[in-house]
Parts: sequence; structure tokens; C-alpha cells
Amino acid sequence: SQPSSLQQMPEPSAYCDAEYADVDWDSLGFGLMPTDYMYITKCSEDNNFGQGQISRYGNIELSPSAGVLNYAQGLFEGTKAYRKENGHLLLFRPDQNAIRMKMGAERMCMISPSVDQFVDALKQTALANKRWTPPPGKGALYLRPLLIGSGPVLGLAPAPEYTFLIYASPVCNYFKEGSAPLNLYVEEEFDRASLRGTGSTKTISNYAPVLKAQLRAKNRGFSDVLYLDSVTKNNLEEVSSCNIFIAKGNVISTPATNGTILAGITRKTILEIAHDHGYQVEERIVPVDELVDADEVFCTGTAVGVAPVGSITYRDRRIDFKTGSDTICQELYSSLVGIQTGLIEDKKGWVVEI
Ligand code: COI
Repeated sequence: SQPSSLQQMPEPSAYCDAEYADVDWDSLGFGLMPTDYMYITKCSEDNNFGQGQISRYGNIELSPSAGVLNYAQGLFEGTKAYRKENGHLLLFRPDQNAIRMKMGAERMCMISPSVDQFVDALKQTALANKRWTPPPGKGALYLRPLLIGSGPVLGLAPAPEYTFLIYASPVCNYFKEGSAPLNLYVEEEFDRASLRGTGSTKTISNYAPVLKAQLRAKNRGFSDVLYLDSVTKNNLEEVSSCNIFIAKGNVISTPATNGTILAGITRKTILEIAHDHGYQVEERIVPVDELVDADEVFCTGTAVGVAPVGSITYRDRRIDFKTGSDTICQELYSSLVGIQTGLIEDKKGWVVEI
């Protein structure tokens, strides 16, 4: 059923040819710019999700005792739609987000939409908000799927009802640095994830706890923090909102997904692109001490893309890395964005044109 405040809208085909929204496309960052529509559907504990619908973007009603508000029973995803030169929209590996949400839902005792329903909902949301998709080269329409325990609970238990929704916002660079190199700080007081916890799950509860360290680092002039493993404090994990890679010679390494690292879709894609480009790629334990010898460091994520790291400060020692146009980071970034935007042929079947 629909929250009463939401107006039912016509089929996407009725409005998908809309012109551009009135946006200054050159000043996009990564802030929320509400768009016209969102997708929403609900299901109860003994049901699957029914056919969802596109509704006007707006507030949703939640019981004060909703599972998500009281016990953080919620997951989110992030993916982007790009506008191709021919005017069509391109989604990138949307099935991977669907699969990750299914796996997260299993961990969080939630009912999830099927892969087909998830992908179809992404398509509907992107098309409904097409006029908010930046022109080619100016950014993307960020799509944010949410799966939340919306039914009421008091005692700690799975919620009796779930809501799956997707909203959208036009975005460009994630960091205020734009495409300039990031300066990271190795965080040693706080951990991002615990062994056998939910670090590999895109649960909403993984994100608020990183704010304190992030804000502290930003106040000291850093772009963000880099976390170490919670057991030995010797090995790299990830940045607050993205995965990390180091490059040394022909070898590109990233921390293995051992349950504490988010299995990023951009991470997985970059590993494959790098392998195809002839690099030796390694998913393994990456000791923090290896930073000293690394040629390059870069971050990957849906929101972040592929972002160069110019320096990492570890225990008051600043280690600098190569950045610029003649880097592995730039090479991989160009390949990824080329495929995502339709400028480079997609030989992998990653891109879904709508
Ligand atoms: C994304 O990269 O899409 C994410 O979900 C990270 C988020 C903190 C912006």
C-alpha cells in the first residue's frame, strides 16, 4: 500500500522524454538535490514484495517503533545512471547491487526484492527522473535503493513489514577536493568493522559510527580517514565510504574481502579492468607498512568513482604518492568511466541501456 502523502503517478513511458531539469550542471557536487519521483513498495513478514510504483518524491510515514528507527534494521545501495550521447540512460551492473542487497538482507533477517524486481525498479526510477540526469561528462544520476524494516517492533526482533524504495539525485564529484588527490589520515582510535561483524554488509548501521573520526580528520585538514583491521591494527581495511588500492610497479593490491571489507562493485570492476590491462592484481592482507613503498594509492566506490590519493598520514608521518595524468589510477578511471558512459565498448555485458 502507498503512504497517503504519496500521489500515484502515470507509467514512466508517459514522462521519460522530458527535457533537462533547471540545474547548473557545472556546480554539481555530492549533495542531495531532490528529484521528481521515487519508487516504493512494501511487504509484510509472510509475503514477497508486490509490484512497486513510481510516486512523487516526498516524505514517508514511519511508525515511531519501526524496526529501522529502533534497531537499525536497514540496508542501502548506491548506483549511477549516465546519460549517453544518444540520449539514452546507462546503468552499470545493476544486478550486482541487487545481489548485494539480497545477501545483506539475509544477514539482517529482512525480506528483499528479487534481482529482477530490483533491476526493474532501478530502471523505472532512472527513467522517471531522466531530466535530472546530467548531460554527458557532467556527472550522473545517483540512485539510492533503501530496504528498511518499516513495521513496528518493541522487543528486539525482525520487523513485521519492510519497505523497499529508491530515490535519486544528480551528482558529480564525491569529495570537495573534486578530482584533486585526497589526503587521508590513518585512524587508529576507532575501528570501522569488527571480525565476524557486518563490515561486508551495506547496512545503514555501518556508516554513522564513522562520522566522528571522519569529522575529526576533516577538521584537521584531511579528506577522510583510512581504517585498519580491528584485531592487529597492522593491515589496511577501507576508507569511510570507499575501498582502497595500492600500486607498486605492475602489481595492484587491495585488502581481501574477509567479512570486514565492503565488497564494492567498483572494487570488483577495477580488479577486472586492471587484470585485463595486464596488471597483476592481488586481493590479500595489505600491511599498513607497505604504504611507504607504494607508488600509487587510490580509492574506489560508486559515489567516489576512482579517486587518487596524494598522501596518507600515519602516526604523524606523511607518505606521498604519485598522482596525475600518467598514473595507473588515471588509466583505470578512464577505462571505467568510458565503459559506464558508453564511450568505450562494453565487452563484458556490464552496461544496461534504457
Ligand atoms: C556509494 O559509494 O554509493 C556509497 O554507498 C557510499 C556512501 C557513503 C556514499
